[in-house]
Amino acid sequence: MPTVTFIEANGTEHAVDARSGTSLMEVAVANLVPGILGDCGGNCSCATCHTYIEAGWAEKVPQASGEELEILEGALDVSDNSRLACQIVLNDGLDGLVVRVPLRQY
Ligand code: FES
Repeated sequence: MPTVTFIEANGTEHAVDARSGTSLMEVAVANLVPGILGDCGGNCSCATCHTYIEAGWAEKVPQASGEELEILEGALDVSDNSRLACQIVLNDGLDGLVVRVPLRQY
C-alpha cells in the first residue's frame, strides 16, 4: 500500500495511504486534499487535477501520454514537472511519492 504526500501551495502536508491501482487524483479527492478537484472524474479532459511531481519522482511515474500533454496545455501555471493526477495510477513502486498542489486550478 503506497503512501503519498500532497503538499498544498501554503505548505500544508497531507500524507495518505493509497491502494495500488487507484489514481493519484482519486486518492486526493477521497482524502479531501484541498486544490485537487478532479471535475471530469478522471477522463483527462478538465485539468483540475493538475499537480507538480516532486524532484526525484518524475522518472518513476509513468510517462505522460500525448492526450495528457494536450490537456495540460490548457492548465494554469504549468511547469516542467506538471502532471494530471488522474493519469498516474499508483503502485507499490510509488510508495513515498510526493506531489505539490498548485495555488490555483482555474
Ligand atoms: S480529473 Fe479531469 S483531467 Fe484529471
